[in-house]
Amino acid sequence: MTTIDLPLLPLGRGKDLSAERGVECPGDLPAASDPDLVARAAAAKAALGERVFILGHHYQRDEVVEFADVMGDSFKLAKDAAARPEAEFIVFCGVHFMAESADILTGDDQKVILPDLAAGCSMADMARLGQVEDAWDALTDAGVVDLVVPITYMNSSADIKAFCGKHDGAVCTSSNADVALEWAFAQKGPDTKVLFFPDQHLGRNTAVLKLGYSLADCIVWNPLLPNGGNTVDELRAAKVILWKGHCSVHGRFTAEVVDELRATVPDVQILVHPECAHEVVLKADLVGSTEFIINTVEAAPPGSVWAIGTELNLVKRLAAAHPDQKIVFLDKTVCYCSTMNRIDLPHLVWALESLVEGTVVNQIRVDGETERWAKVALQRMLDLPGRSSRD
Ligand code: 13P
Ligand code: SF4
Repeated sequence: MTTIDLPLLPLGRGKDLSAERGVECPGDLPAASDPDLVARAAAAKAALGERVFILGHHYQRDEVVEFADVMGDSFKLAKDAAARPEAEFIVFCGVHFMAESADILTGDDQKVILPDLAAGCSMADMARLGQVEDAWDALTDAGVVDLVVPITYMNSSADIKAFCGKHDGAVCTSSNADVALEWAFAQKGPDTKVLFFPDQHLGRNTAVLKLGYSLADCIVWNPLLPNGGNTVDELRAAKVILWKGHCSVHGRFTAEVVDELRATVPDVQILVHPECAHEVVLKADLVGSTEFIINTVEAAPPGSVWAIGTELNLVKRLAAAHPDQKIVFLDKTVCYCSTMNRIDLPHLVWALESLVEGTVVNQIRVDGETERWAKVALQRMLDLPGRSSRD
């Protein structure tokens, strides 16, 4: 048998260190088969006592959620972290951009820890600072930049949030994207344009379904093409410039499955997250953020029938918590957020036991200048009129 020396190395090792973070755990990870993992996590947490505060995002695995002091969406968890100044260690069971936001909003003496550095977000990675700066330069060359307000979704890296802070823009979450866009359109007169990143679907669904813009008012910016793949005239005419990013989990839900479920499951109501594609959202009964989805199911009467289009760990937990309702997943195949799932019990045990031994592992640190400007953009979101965080 001949062997072929393939030139492709996994992840192009060494070429983009930020894309490779967490590929190897810098320590002795307990075996997933260790029968004492639950007891070890409990013992380490008890030993740390008030010194540690464990945050769990709604998309986390059950085995991790069990040890969370508080659960929430990305924005709530950032606020919860900020409200715990006495905790020396914030162990963030979520993904990288969320841990960064927690670091920005917590005190300098607090340490934010992400148990597995490979817990990133493919959507956040779709907008890199250099690409956004290139887009800004192209909008400058097209003569429209003075009319543009940049708005970034919470699901973005800290340096992108800082870019928005520096350029008179703001952050938004899936529960206040409409308020953030209304605010943005009021910033630069009637010809204002919004540059929205990284999620084109949240931007489109909000601009069209909540603010009444037409699909023709929205153009897509492909960072790999000159002028984002648009003519200068198109850039001048657009109201909303949508970054070509998406969520690989919410992007799986399809209009065809919605049609099939409506035909086969009596009284089904379709409940989806606004990161789903526009054609799916158009066919849904209800659309809203993670917290909205949870609140909707919690308020529904027994016998309600739901097909839910969001991350599977959350949908399974909702189904288990509401056995008097029928809750199904809106996809035919199993689909977890693979990066959220990186945080498992072995990584949590490793992070907690390391802290007990006096070693801080996997600390997430945002540098001072980035933090200063990212805070400006986050504060603009907090200052938005009406709903500033979540419903
Ligand atoms: P939340 O902002 O609702 O926490 O959502 C985060 C996320 O990753 C959605 O895909
Ligand atoms: Fe990112 Fe999507 Fe996973 Fe959320 S569900 S963390 S947006 S990849």
